[in-house]
Amino acid sequence: MARLPLVAGNWKMYKTVGDALALAHALAREALPDGVEVALCPPFTALAEVSRALEGSRIRLGAQDMYWEAQGAFTGEISPLMLSDVGCTYVIVGHSERRQHFGETDAAVAKKVGSAFGHGLVPIMCVGERLEERDAGRTDQVVAAQMEAGVAGVGDGQAARLVVAYEPVWAIGTGRSASGEEANRVCGLIRSVLSERFGPAGDQVRILYGGSVTGDNAAEFARQREIDGALVGGASLDPQKFLRIIHSAVRSPRG
Ligand code: PGA
Repeated sequence: MARLPLVAGNWKMYKTVGDALALAHALAREALPDGVEVALCPPFTALAEVSRALEGSRIRLGAQDMYWEAQGAFTGEISPLMLSDVGCTYVIVGHSERRQHFGETDAAVAKKVGSAFGHGLVPIMCVGERLEERDAGRTDQVVAAQMEAGVAGVGDGQAARLVVAYEPVWAIGTGRSASGEEANRVCGLIRSVLSERFGPAGDQVRILYGGSVTGDNAAEFARQREIDGALVGGASLDPQKFLRIIHSAVRSPRG
C-alpha cells in the first residue's frame, strides 16, 4: 500500500454549526484532485451535520479528540463509539494544545491511539517540540520519546494505518513555519522510530507536517521525501486557502 498524501483541516474551537456547514458545503462542491485525501475535523457540535454535508463527496470526517473508553460515567467526554457513529474516519490525538492546556500526557495519548484503532478509527497522532526544547537542542530526543510512548499500544497489524503529525509547537498559529528541510529531517527521525518498532509497516505510515501551513508554503512541504501531507489549522477555516493547500499536496503515492 502506497502512502497517499492526506490534508486534514483542524478547525479547533471555531465555527458554529451553521458556519461549519457553509464551509463543508463550499469544499464538498469542489472537484478535488486525485492523488490527495482530504479530511475535515470540525468541533464536536458540528460533526453530525458536517457528516451529512459530506455524504457523496470524497472528503472524510475527523474529530479533534476523544476519550479512550467506549462509554461510561465520564461527564463531558466523547467516546470513539460516538465518533464512529457520526461517520468519523479520523481522530486527532495528542494535539499540542491538548497537551499544553488540558494536561494530556503521553500515557493518555497512547491509550487514545490504541482505543481509536480498537474502534475502527484512524488516529492522527501529534508530536512536536516546544521552543525551549528546540533551543536547548532537545528536539530529536523529545519527538522520539513522544513517538515511542504514543505507539506503545499499537499492534503490528495496525501500524500501517497510523497517521502521525509532526507539529513543532512554536510553529502552530504563529505564522512561523519550520523550513521544509528541517521538517523533513524530523519526519525522517519519526519514520526511523516507526521502522525500528514496526519493521516494514513503518514505511506505510503517513507523516504530516503541521504548523502555519499556508497556500504559499504548502508546496515546499509537499516536495519533501518524508512528508505525506499537512495538518492545517488557521488556513483550513477559509475554503480558498484550504483548497490551495490541497492542490499543492497532490503527488503520486510513495512508500
Ligand atoms: P496552524 O495550526 O495551521 O494554525 O498553525 C496547526 C494545528 O494546530 O494543527
